[in-house]
Amino acid sequence: MAPEVHGRSAGGDLATDEGAVGEAAVRAVGRSAGGAVESLRNGFVRTDRRGVEILYRFLSPADDVGAITDLLHKAYAPLAEAGLHYVASHQSPEVTRRRMAKGDTIVAVVEGHIVGVVTLARTSTTEGSPFYNRLDVASIGQFAVEPALQGAGVGSTLLELVEELAVARGVVELALDTSEQAEHLVRFYTSRGYRFIEFARWPEVNYRSIIFAKQLSGRGTATA
Ligand SMILES: CC(C)(COP(=O)(O)OP(=O)(O)OC[C@H]1O[C@@H](n2cnc3c(N)ncnc32)[C@H](O)[C@@H]1OP(=O)(O)O)[C@@H](O)C(=O)NCCC(=O)NCCS
Repeated sequence: MAPEVHGRSAGGDLATDEGAVGEAAVRAVGRSAGGAVESLRNGFVRTDRRGVEILYRFLSPADDVGAITDLLHKAYAPLAEAGLHYVASHQSPEVTRRRMAKGDTIVAVVEGHIVGVVTLARTSTTEGSPFYNRLDVASIGQFAVEPALQGAGVGSTLLELVEELAVARGVVELALDTSEQAEHLVRFYTSRGYRFIEFARWPEVNYRSIIFAKQLSGRGTATA
């Protein structure tokens, strides 16, 4: 996903879950995750399809942004090798930090190591295209799973969690973008209910992006 370095820059510290919004998110997550979820704030464990126990929780201020950046580089490397220069394939830790400050980040953890990450950027920090500029549109960014663990459902779980968090935030449309050439990602998102919205061209990347979105119920606490 590309557009994290254009548009308004988010101020503030690393975003982590806080207070009532977190509680709402946990309730929302619990609904969709079939009761397996205790709470993203406290963390909960779900076993992936290969039997690995994965802890899902919100980003903590103690988490290592450099390690998360390394994970992003590693996960996005095949895309870069295919000629698609996603920002996450080469961004600095400072950019990772800035992107995280745009909203909330959920991490997947195995034995203390972060193996998956996704950031939900607030509606106010989602912009740069006609659709992104809508006030009820939030977006997903820097979405990655450790290559050795890919294909076992961790990414799908992160996507479900971020969708439920967005529901809890009162987001109406949850959007994301990816290269139009990344056919496996286009399939991944469309098979999970995301629909084509529009094309976009961003100077940070060397490809045309497709913006996808999924309509959420819009219920919950409208704080996104
Ligand atoms: C996209 C990503 C986060 C998914 O995480 P994951 O743990 O592998 O996801 P899951 O195991 O839940 O699902 C894997 C799905 O992705 C598809 N997929 C992911 N990468 C793929 C690839 N390189 N080639 C083919 N299919 C791929 C699988 O076919 C599968 O789809 P299906 O369940 O509909 O059959 C992970 O593959 C990743 O980190 N990729 C590199 C970074 C990236 O592309 N980020 C998104 C940029 S928009």
